[in-house]
Amino acid sequence: MVRKDNMNSSELRNKYLEYFVKNGHTRIKSASLIPDNDPTVLFTTAGMHPLVPYLLGEKHPGGNRLTNVQKCVRTGDIDEVGDNSHCTFFEMLGNWSLGDYFKEESIKMSFNFLVNELKIDINTIAVSVFAGDETAPRDMVSATCWKNLGIKEEKIFFLPKKNNWWGPAGVTGPCGPDTEIFIVNEKASCGENCSPACSCGKYLEIWNNVFMEYEKKADGSYVPLSQKNVDTGMGLERTVSILNGNNSVYEIDVFKPVMDRIKELASGGENIRARRVIADHLRTATFMLGDEKGITPSNVDQGYILRRLIRRAVRFARLISIAPEFLPELAKEYIKIYGETYPEIKNNGEKIISELQKEISRFDDTLQKGLVEFEKLKKYIQNNRISGKAAFRLYDTFGFPIEMTIELAEENGITVDKEGYEECFREHQEKSHAGAEQKFKGGLADNSEQTSKLHTATHILLATLKKVLKDNTISQKGSNITAERLRFDFNFERPLTEEEIKDVEKGVNEVINRALPITCEEMSADAALKSGAEGAFAERYGEIVKVYTIGDYSKEICGGPHAGNTKELGKFSISKEQSSSAGVRRIKAILE
Ligand code: SER
Repeated sequence: MVRKDNMNSSELRNKYLEYFVKNGHTRIKSASLIPDNDPTVLFTTAGMHPLVPYLLGEKHPGGNRLTNVQKCVRTGDIDEVGDNSHCTFFEMLGNWSLGDYFKEESIKMSFNFLVNELKIDINTIAVSVFAGDETAPRDMVSATCWKNLGIKEEKIFFLPKKNNWWGPAGVTGPCGPDTEIFIVNEKASCGENCSPACSCGKYLEIWNNVFMEYEKKADGSYVPLSQKNVDTGMGLERTVSILNGNNSVYEIDVFKPVMDRIKELASGGENIRARRVIADHLRTATFMLGDEKGITPSNVDQGYILRRLIRRAVRFARLISIAPEFLPELAKEYIKIYGETYPEIKNNGEKIISELQKEISRFDDTLQKGLVEFEKLKKYIQNNRISGKAAFRLYDTFGFPIEMTIELAEENGITVDKEGYEECFREHQEKSHAGAEQKFKGGLADNSEQTSKLHTATHILLATLKKVLKDNTISQKGSNITAERLRFDFNFERPLTEEEIKDVEKGVNEVINRALPITCEEMSADAALKSGAEGAFAERYGEIVKVYTIGDYSKEICGGPHAGNTKELGKFSISKEQSSSAGVRRIKAILE
C-alpha cells in the first residue's frame, strides 16, 4: 500500500490547492475547455495551456505563483479508453512559477507534498530526469536535488527527450525538460532493465514538473525564454486511483455511482470495456455541454468531437443492451458529483440533459438501420475493404461518424477507404456550399504544419518497414495523425524486435537527414500504380489521383498535404509498437 488511508478526489483536490496556497501561490479558476488563443488544438489539454501568454512573459494578475485544477480533454487516444487508465476528460492539478522559483524549490515542494501531506512512503517513489541532448544539457540539478531529499540513486532514471521533455501543447510555444514522479508497483515488473520508460505497469506516473525554459518556433528551433518557468501537472483521477491501490481509474469515487448504475442497467454480459467507454464519454460530453463556452453537437470542430463521443456511447450502450434513453441519467449523476466544484455544470444542467436527449434520439433512430446496412455491406465488399462511397453513405444517411465506421470495420477484420470517404465528403461539401474548414483528426486541426510533417513521416516509415523487415507485401492498414504523434498500422505477423525498431528509427532518420524534396503530381490511378506508386485503393482505379514522391525513396498515392523537404521533419522516434488486430501491427511515433 502506498499510504494508509483511502483518499477521494475532493480530498486530494483540496489538499493540493491548500498546500500550494500556503506556499505563496494564488488559486486561479479552471479555464474553459475551449482554448482562447490556440487555433491548432480544439480543446484545453493541460493546465499550462491557458497560461501560455504568461509563460512567454506577460504579467499575470494573480502574481508569479499560481495553482489550480484544470478541466482537460485529450481525444488523441480515444480508442484506448476502456483500458485501466485512459479517459478523454480528466482534471489536472497544477502549480506554476512564472519566472519565480525554479528546479530545486519546485522539486522540494513536490516532495514535501507527497511525503508529508499525502504521507506516501518514500520507498515507493521513483523519478526520471532529462538525460540531455543537443537542445539542453543533462539535468544534474534535478537529479542531485532528488538525491539530497533521500531518493536512492537506483530510483533516479535519466531518460531522453522522448520521455523527459514536455510541450509545446500545440505546434509552437513554451516547453522544456521535465522531471517525472512515479509510484513503484513492485508487483508489476517486466524484468531487470525495466524503467519508467517502460509501459509494463511497474512505474505509475503521478506528477510531471516541467522546467519551461524554451520556446519552440514554427521552424522547429528551440529559443531560450527570457524567464524560466515551472509548470507542473498531476492527473487527479490517476493519482487517486494509485493512492488507493485501485486497479483502474474507473474504480475511484467520481466514477463509482455511474459505473454501478451502468452495471444495473446492462442486462447481463461482463463487457467492462463498454461500460467504461460509456462512463467516460458521458462524463466528457457533460463537461463539454456544460462548459462556459457552451458547445453543442455539430459536424465541425469541437461539436464534431462531442457528437462522436455521444454517438459512440449510444453504440456501446446498445452493445450491452442498455436503452440509450437512460444515458442522460448518467449525466445527472455527474452533475451531482461535479456541480459544487464546477458550478457551470450545475447552472447548465438542463441544457446538458436536453442536448443529450436530442442527440441520442436523433442518432438512435438511424443506428439500428445503419447497422443492418453495415451487415449487408460486409457481404458484398471487395478486397475486405469498404469503399469511400459506402462509408460516406453510412455517414450521410445513417449519421455514422467515419471513425465509428472504421471502428466497426476493425472489429470485423476489414478496412475502410478513408481517403475515398474524405473525397466524397469534400465533393458533397462543395455541392452544398458548406465551406467551413474540417478539423477532426483526433481533436486537432487538420493540415497544420506538424500534421503535414507527421504525414510525410508515415510515408518514409512504410518504405523503411519494407526494407528493414525485408517484406514487400507490407502495406498501410490504417493511419491516424494528431499534432503530437502519428499512428500507423501495417500487415505483419509478429512483434518487431528491439533491434528492428532501432533499425527502422535509424532508417527513417537517415532519409530525413538526406534532405529529400517532396513532390506531387496528378495522374490516373492506372498510371500511378504502373509507375510503382504505393496505393491501397483498388476501388478507385481509373480516377485521377495525387502521387507524392519523396526523393528516390518513396512514392505513394495520397491526398496530402505533406512537408516540402524531409529536413523539416526533425528527429523521428518510435514510442510504441504493439498489436492492432490479427496480423496487423501498430506503430506510434513522434517527431522531435
Ligand atoms: N504540462 C505538463 C503536462 O501536461 C505538466 O503540467 O504533463
